[in-house]
Amino acid sequence: MRRRLIVPVVMAAMCGTALVGTASSASAAVKAVDCRKVKCVALTFDDGPVADTKRLLKTLSDRNVRATFYLVGQNVARNPSVAKAIANGGNQIGNHSWDHADLTKLSAAKISSQFSRTDTAIRNATGLRPSTVRAPYGANNAAVRKAAARPLVHWSIDTLDWKYRDTARLIRTVTTQTRPGDIVLMHDIHKTTVSAVPGIITGLKSRGFHIVTVDQLFAPAKLPAGKVTYDNRKAYKP
Ligand code: NI
Repeated sequence: MRRRLIVPVVMAAMCGTALVGTASSASAAVKAVDCRKVKCVALTFDDGPVADTKRLLKTLSDRNVRATFYLVGQNVARNPSVAKAIANGGNQIGNHSWDHADLTKLSAAKISSQFSRTDTAIRNATGLRPSTVRAPYGANNAAVRKAAARPLVHWSIDTLDWKYRDTARLIRTVTTQTRPGDIVLMHDIHKTTVSAVPGIITGLKSRGFHIVTVDQLFAPAKLPAGKVTYDNRKAYKP
């Protein structure tokens, strides 16, 4: 997200020992769709994981939908079991820095540390290495893009969910504004957002959208490392 500083997160209940081992393939296989031929959208959830992320995961699982989560490293360290549950649900995980700093204001060494500490926390919790990153606030420059060493995936629909905190408004925004190839920015640290997801899924499916992960949205293409991507609208040729 763009403006807000990271808020304190619930940490009491979720602290525990880090999980070890590799990520399982526990989730049911999802039928692959070709987003060049059918209407696709990627829902993305930033700044977690937090305890309430588990409520979102249940919604996604119940509706057989996969999303992409841009995780903040210090929240992964606080809530490793939630990060593990995100991965186990077949969702995609990305790196959203260690503490949601504006990376353009940091030295090259500190930018690298923001990404590497987060990679380590995610690996400890899930066994996975995030294949994409998202810069906090979207703030990036050449030093940030170089340190990322992976594709930067930003967004084409800025829902401003953090600002309005309005479930009905969020459902309406996503349902009406989404076009094929869009990447929707939301934040599962807000309960109003988590509460909106059932309605968002219903609304998008009623418009014929397939809800996919970021990787699925661009497949079979691979995103370029060190560049910012906002959407895949051009790929859709029905
Ligand atoms: Ni953010």
